[in-house]
Amino acid sequence: MTEAILLVGGKGTRLRPLTVNTPKPMVPAAGVPFLTHQLARARAAGVEHVVLATSYLAEVFEPYFGDGSGLGLHLEYVTEQEPLGTGGAIRNVASRLRSGPGDPVLIFNGDILTGLDIAALVATHQRTGADVSLHLTRVDDPRAYGLVPTDADGRVTAFLEKPQTPEEIVTDQINAGAYVFNRSVIDAIPTGRPVSVERETFPGLLADGAHLQGMVDSTYWLDLGTPQAFVRGSADLVLGRAPSPAVPGRRGDRLVLDGARVAADAKLTGGTVVGADARIGAGARVEGSAVLAGAIVGEDARVRDSLIGAGARIGPRTVLDGAVIGDGASVGADNELRAGLRVWCGADIPAGAVRFSSDQ
Ligand code: GTP
Repeated sequence: MTEAILLVGGKGTRLRPLTVNTPKPMVPAAGVPFLTHQLARARAAGVEHVVLATSYLAEVFEPYFGDGSGLGLHLEYVTEQEPLGTGGAIRNVASRLRSGPGDPVLIFNGDILTGLDIAALVATHQRTGADVSLHLTRVDDPRAYGLVPTDADGRVTAFLEKPQTPEEIVTDQINAGAYVFNRSVIDAIPTGRPVSVERETFPGLLADGAHLQGMVDSTYWLDLGTPQAFVRGSADLVLGRAPSPAVPGRRGDRLVLDGARVAADAKLTGGTVVGADARIGAGARVEGSAVLAGAIVGEDARVRDSLIGAGARIGPRTVLDGAVIGDGASVGADNELRAGLRVWCGADIPAGAVRFSSDQ
């Protein structure tokens, strides 16, 4: 079966502070580093050899995943000293590939949660004889994305920058971050300098008359690049809305990992995950949220659509709604944090210090 490259070297700036100590693919989603879900899905599709293209915080991947045998994979790691961008990263791992020049190689962005039929993407690539095939997904509001229109046969006709005016929205199809490249296309990417596949390689191939094939697959798809999306993705994995063979437990309203302690009258709903050794106090309600390992949620706290980092502490009666609390931070009692607020790792917010409403 086809081998795969996973791009996991980005700095993950949009996800800070979650990515201050941890690279984005290693932030836990539904109880395990997010990358585990992608590796398990690739394995389930028959992929056996995966090369991880690492750069930012590269040293944490191998101690966790080792040679990949725990997942039934053979994993290799290649680190860029200076980030080479998506295309440069792909070219930089070429020496580890086993495929011949005409063979297909799968490439995945390391921050996409999707139910994509991986085998169907490879089959489409082989059936159409394309040089590169791309998974495309349809979105309701394409304004935030580069657009990828296709002709009646699914052949890509252009790569368009983010549309600025309604007239420029010529399709609702966007690049979904999973590709099949012919090995020879990888070898033709320039070496030794940063290259973006999205901005340079794909438009260049199109201009040279190469065959780029789009495959629209409208199953579950979410880019976990922002905190709100990450929290949503974790909850969807727990609920079973997003498919993964790697969720460590049964799908349902909640997932409580070994060693966590949850008060008998605390309520966990909406795909909430409580990490190892975390504690949820009496009367607390936690909905659609991720409480990472060793974090503490005080009694009668109200937590919704939020992420509480490893070892962070949330005081009694504090309200979190759409908030991100960095690793080891402390939020005292009777605070109210909402609307995308981010508390940095290790920060200390005293009791009763932050409110959104006038009073209770
Ligand atoms: P932001 O900084 O928040 O935009 O996130 P990011 O750094 O992850 O960038 P982006 O979401 O555009 O990256 C898409 C995928 O490519 C992610 O899986 C990144 O890990 C990966 N990636 C981006 N740049 C590089 C790079 O220079 N080297 C490697 N190896 N991977 C990269």
